[in-house]
Order: sequence, then C-alpha cells, then structure tokens
Amino acid sequence: MKERPTMAAILVFLAMLVSLDPVISEPTQDKQALLAFLSQVPHENRLRWNQSVSACSWVGVRCDASNSSVHYLRLPGVALVGQIPANTLGRLSQLRVLSLRSNRLSGSIPPDFSQLKLLRSVYLQHNEFSGAFPPSLTELTRLTRLDLSSNNFTGPIPFSVGNLTLLTGLFLQNNGFSGKIPSISPPGLVSFNVSNNRLNGSIPSALARFPASAFANNINLCGAPLAPCNPFFPSPAPAPTLPPPLVPTQSKRRKLSTAAIIAISVAGGVLILLLLLVIIFLLIRKRRKSESAKPQKLPVSAATAVGDAGTSSSKDDVTGGLAEGAERNKLVFFRGGGYSFDLEDLLRASAEVLGKGSVGTSYKAVLEEGTTVVVKRLKDVAVAKREFEQHMEVLGNIKDQNVLPLRAYYYSKDEKLLVYDYMPAGSLSALLHGSRGSGRTPLEWDNRLRIALSAARGLAHLHVSGNVVHGNIKSSNILVKQENLDACVSDFGLNPLFANSSPPHHRIMGYRAPEVLETRKVTFKSDVYSLGVLLLELLTGKAPNQASLGEEGIDLPRWVQSVVREEWTAEVFDVELMRYHNVEEEMVQLLQIGMACVATVPDQRPEMQQVLRMIEEMNRGETDEGLHHSSDDAIRGGGGSDNSQATPVESRTSPPGFTP
Ligand SMILES: *[C@@H]1O[C@H](CO)[C@@H](O)[C@H](O)[C@H]1NC(C)=O
Ligand SMILES: *[C@@H]1O[C@H](CO)[C@@H](O)[C@H](O)[C@H]1NC(C)=O
Ligand SMILES: *[C@@H]1O[C@H](CO)[C@@H](O)[C@H](O)[C@H]1NC(C)=O
Ligand SMILES: *[C@@H]1O[C@H](CO)[C@@H](O)[C@H](O)[C@H]1NC(C)=O
Ligand SMILES: *[C@@H]1O[C@H](CO)[C@@H](O)[C@H](O)[C@H]1NC(C)=O
Ligand SMILES: *[C@@H]1O[C@H](CO)[C@@H](O)[C@H](O)[C@H]1NC(C)=O
Repeated sequence: MKERPTMAAILVFLAMLVSLDPVISEPTQDKQALLAFLSQVPHENRLRWNQSVSACSWVGVRCDASNSSVHYLRLPGVALVGQIPANTLGRLSQLRVLSLRSNRLSGSIPPDFSQLKLLRSVYLQHNEFSGAFPPSLTELTRLTRLDLSSNNFTGPIPFSVGNLTLLTGLFLQNNGFSGKIPSISPPGLVSFNVSNNRLNGSIPSALARFPASAFANNINLCGAPLAPCNPFFPSPAPAPTLPPPLVPTQSKRRKLSTAAIIAISVAGGVLILLLLLVIIFLLIRKRRKSESAKPQKLPVSAATAVGDAGTSSSKDDVTGGLAEGAERNKLVFFRGGGYSFDLEDLLRASAEVLGKGSVGTSYKAVLEEGTTVVVKRLKDVAVAKREFEQHMEVLGNIKDQNVLPLRAYYYSKDEKLLVYDYMPAGSLSALLHGSRGSGRTPLEWDNRLRIALSAARGLAHLHVSGNVVHGNIKSSNILVKQENLDACVSDFGLNPLFANSSPPHHRIMGYRAPEVLETRKVTFKSDVYSLGVLLLELLTGKAPNQASLGEEGIDLPRWVQSVVREEWTAEVFDVELMRYHNVEEEMVQLLQIGMACVATVPDQRPEMQQVLRMIEEMNRGETDEGLHHSSDDAIRGGGGSDNSQATPVESRTSPPGFTP
C-alpha cells in the first residue's frame, strides 16, 4: 500500500519534467529567422538576445501560449539601421504584430513580407524607408492597422490598398506619396491620415468624413473636407465601386449639355415618382400591420378568456370592486405574453425593488398565482396620455428574441407602469462585475461573445425593424436568458417619454456618446457608441461607469485607445480571459469592432447592422452553431419568456433582472 503513492508521485514528477523540456517550448525556426535578422542589421546592443535561452523570453518577442511560434515582435526605438534583409522577418509565418517604429531602417520592405498572412498590425513609422508603397503589404488581407507615416515613401498609393478590407487605421502622413488618393473605403476605417505628402486630385467621397487635417499639406488636393475642386480641371472619374455623390457638384452641373439636363430631369422625375410609390406602399403596409397588431385592451371581466390554462379565474369578483374611474385606466396588454392579471392583482403582488434607474424604479412583482413579472414605475413622464399610448404601441409591437418584450402598460394621471418579463438569470453587469474573484465563475469567452452577438442582434432589430433608438444601453440593461445564455436588451426606447430626452444621469455617463452630453439627444449612432463601450466592457472586464481606470477622469474607450496605441493590445483584456489560449484572435477582432463603434465623430461609427455583420462574420468558421440560429425564430414573441415564468421562484436569491 505504501508504494503506490510513491509511484504516482514519480510519474507526476516525470510528466512535469517532460513538460518543462525546453526543446518543446521553443520556436526553433522563428528563432533562426530572428537571429538572421539581428545579425544582418546593425543596432545598438541593447537587445542582448541570448541564444542559449528561449526566443520567447527575448526583449520585444512574444510567443503564442505553447511557445511554438512568435506572435509579436516589437522593437521600437532600438536604433536598427539599414535595410530589412529578405528571408529573415518574412519567415515569421505566425506573426500578428510587427513594430519596428522609430528606428533608422531604410530601403524598401522585402517582398517576402507577403508571407506574413496573419499580420494584423504593422507599425513602421518614423524610419527612413523609401521607394514605392510596399506591394507585399497590400497582400496581407488581415491587416487592421498599417502605419507607414514619417518615412520617405514615394510614388502613388496603389489601388490594391483597397484589398485590405479590415483596416481600421491607415497612416501614410509625412511621406512623399504622389498622384491621387485611390477610392478605398474599408467599412471599419476609423483613423486615416495622408497629410504632408505630394498628393493631388479630388478626395474620394468615401473619405470625405475624415477631418481636413488628415489631408493637409499636399500639392493640390480638393473636395470635401477641403475646398471644392476647380471646375476647369475636372476631377478624375471616381472608381466604379464608389456610389455616385448624392448631390451633383456645382462644377459638374455647369458643364452639362441641355440634353443631359433634360435626361437627368426625366430620370429624376421617374425616380421621385418611384420613391413616392414606395413610400405610399410602405405606409399602407405599416398601417395594415399596426391594425393587425393592436394591443389587446384587457377588460377586467374578460381576463380569463385571454389567459393561459394554468391561471386562476377569479377576476369576475374583482370587477365589481373596481371603481368606475379606474375602468378608463386599464392595464393594456400586448399580444404574445400569455399573461392574465389585472391592476388589482398587480397591486396585491409582493414587490421587491430591483433597481432605481434614471427613468424610474423597477420592481420584481410576484403575483398571488405565482407569476413573476418586472414592473417599471416611470417618474417624471412628460407626455400626454395619447402620445404615451401611441409610443407604447410602437414599443409593444417590437418582438425579437434578443429584445425583452414590453408586455403591458398602465397610464393614469399619477401612475405610469410598464410590465416586462422577469429574467431570473440576471444582467450582464451582475455576471461580469458581481463579486469578482470570490469564488464566482468567471464569464467564459464563448458566453461573452454570445452576449455581444445577442445585444447587437437585439439593437439591430430595434433600429431596422422597429425604427427605435434604444437610448440606454449599459450592461445592467443586457439581460441573460437562463436556458442558453442568449441575451436580450431591455429598457429600450423610453427617452421620448421624458422632457429632456436624455437625463444626464451619472450612472450612464460611461456609456454616453460624447455628442449626447451636449445635444441631450440619443440617436442610432449614439446607440452604436454605447454598444461599443459595452463590447470594450466585455473584453476588459472593466465597468465603464466606475472611475477605476488608473488615471482620474479617463473613460473606458480612451483608456483602451491609449493602451492599443502603445501596441500592448494583449494588456487590455480581462485577466479572466487569459485562461483561454486560442481565442486571442477573436478577442482582437471584437476589440477592433468595439473601437470602431466608439469613434468620437458619429458619422465615423458604423451602422448597427454593419456592427452586427462584423460580429457575425467574425464567428464564421467557428464550430459553435449556437451562435448562428436563424433570425426566423426571433419572431416568436413569448417563446423564451414562458420558460422564464415556468422557472419556479426559488431563484429569489439570484441576481435581479434589473440593477441600477
Ligand atoms: C545566456 O543564458 C545562459 C543560461 O541562462 C547564461 O548562462 C548565460 O550567461 C547567458 N549569456 C549572456 C551573455 O547573458
Ligand atoms: C513560454 O515562454 C515564456 C518566456 O520564456 C515563459 O515565461 C513561459 O512559461 C513559456 N510557456 C510555456 C508553456 O512553455
Ligand atoms: C528622402 O528621399 C529624398 C530623395 O529621394 C532624399 O533627398 C532625402 O534625403 C531622403 N530623406 C531621408 C530622411 O532619407
Ligand atoms: C488586390 O487589388 C488589385 C487591384 O485592385 C487586384 O488586381 C488584385 O486581384 C487584388 N488581390 C487580391 C488578393 O484580392
Ligand atoms: C497630379 O500630379 C501628377 C504628377 O505627380 C500629374 O501627372 C497629374 O497631372 C496631376 N493631376 C492633377 C489633377 O493635378
Ligand atoms: C494627420 O497627421 C498630421 C501630421 O502628423 C497631424 O498634424 C494631423 O493632426 C493628423 N490628422 C489627423 C486627423 O489625424
């Protein structure tokens, strides 16, 4: 009996020895490539790469989790001088990030850089590179950030830069690029700069959204955001991929022949006619739709007819007890909830405060029959009854798997109530920040991704199908469904009910788009900003509304931007996510989407559908089919909620569905 544990101990020890074997955790080939690079490039001796230890421990080198390949090479400001030799860095086939900025490297970029297919970020600024725009770089289709600024590059910016569709940042300023700017427009492009070059011609309209300083100091650039082009030197025709400008410029119009003018007016007339027809058609359809989906006013006496089988049917007794005046102020139910109770039931229910928000207080109400709902009691509603009802009709008819349905409302002079499903699994805020560290299960990456996708789906549905601005996106308004950790957005579309369409409440400050702080108006684009903050929250694990980001007064987007600018992308991520090794790629992708959303200028943010598409495409090729359920089953209205009601109220101690 005594020998067995000893044997086991020896086996464990042997296993440990094997796993510590340095030969296994050494990227041998990459090491050779790095040494070849350093031996041919003169540099200050600050690097001191020691050949007898793993390359993964060298200054500026970072490997993947298993130390089998180099993922990051960062050698900023180490006085590297001369050309990058071919057949050196081009062999680091798994490289993700390359930073050689602020050195004295010169010559051209070797053609074998085209083999670095996984490169995402390339920082070569502040060197002395010269020659044409490196063709090898335009083949790296996963590039998101390319910085060639402050070098000595010349010649045209090639149209093949348009192949880099994932670019979020392109920095070409302070070079000698000439010719015209190709009409490139990666959908997620947030930062762009070609100032201080020798470019001429018109600025492609897709790039007109960037500030004038991004185009300053060139030979003869024209068009928005700079001065309009000279009519006597017509700008070269825009590339066929570009949509034609909406408003024809003055200069073009002046040169049109009468025939062309007639042709255009006829075409325009036809277009306007078509547009009118479409609008009329849509109006008719909308009216039909809203007629068919009118909320069911629930006369108290008929309550049982609407209810599902399991509910009690003692409503008739209550009817007599209700005052006549109250009859005009009934609880108005929307289709699909399957609820049957009335105001009396609601008032008799045991209520528990879930949270006090900026627009009112939320209660968890357990009715006598056992049904649990969330009742939101609005305060300071500024609209009249009719307007309130109309708005409720809009909100109540929004049905989507990823939107928490409004089930009923109540309006009287003194009391405005909204009724929602109760979600026992709680909010993203509770899952992400609740009792961190103390035995809590961290929110897994897959689930975070699923929640991000759900939130984007819900919001895209609100924006596109509902034409409703959410206006109050934050992690405590993202509710998780217990069954599949899908999530839905709650508390949407309430801003129009209040005098000040956006109360400046400190709790939502961290999510508010900068322009909303001034205009007090929430928009589709401010929703996109708030979702961006939410994505950053999922990635960093940091609560945007808590000033715990080191420096005082710096918000989450700016903190993330500052870290990423320093090329330490990996450092922004939540430590709880560091256990997952093969997801870094996905995390970086989501980070880039989040950063595109938090662009300061609203026009530079993508549309919500674009954000959704980017997140969906990010997941493409994953085996997790659960992320790709068809949007058809989103229209089932009450489907998910029935489950949450069926859950017995044993979950009294679980985190509340609404938190402040
Ligand atoms: C390189 O590393 C080995 C093993 O750690 C060590 O013995 C040696 O002194 C180091 N060489 C230099 C130049 O630092
Ligand atoms: C990878 O290399 C780094 C740096 O030498 C080291 O700290 C880490 O423990 C290694 N990881 C594995 C799994 O060998
Ligand atoms: C850049 O190139 C021009 C001409 O090609 C040359 O005169 C100039 O010295 C170069 N500048 C640097 C910093 O290498
Ligand atoms: C890149 O762009 C060029 C010019 O637009 C095109 O000819 C080429 O096929 C593209 N390459 C890839 C890999 O898409
Ligand atoms: C732009 O500059 C190039 C030379 O760099 C010249 O050939 C071309 O005519 C210029 N185009 C315009 C519109 O000024
Ligand atoms: C573009 O770069 C120039 C020169 O570095 C800088 O002055 C300007 O502010 C930059 N503009 C933008 C929009 O980044």
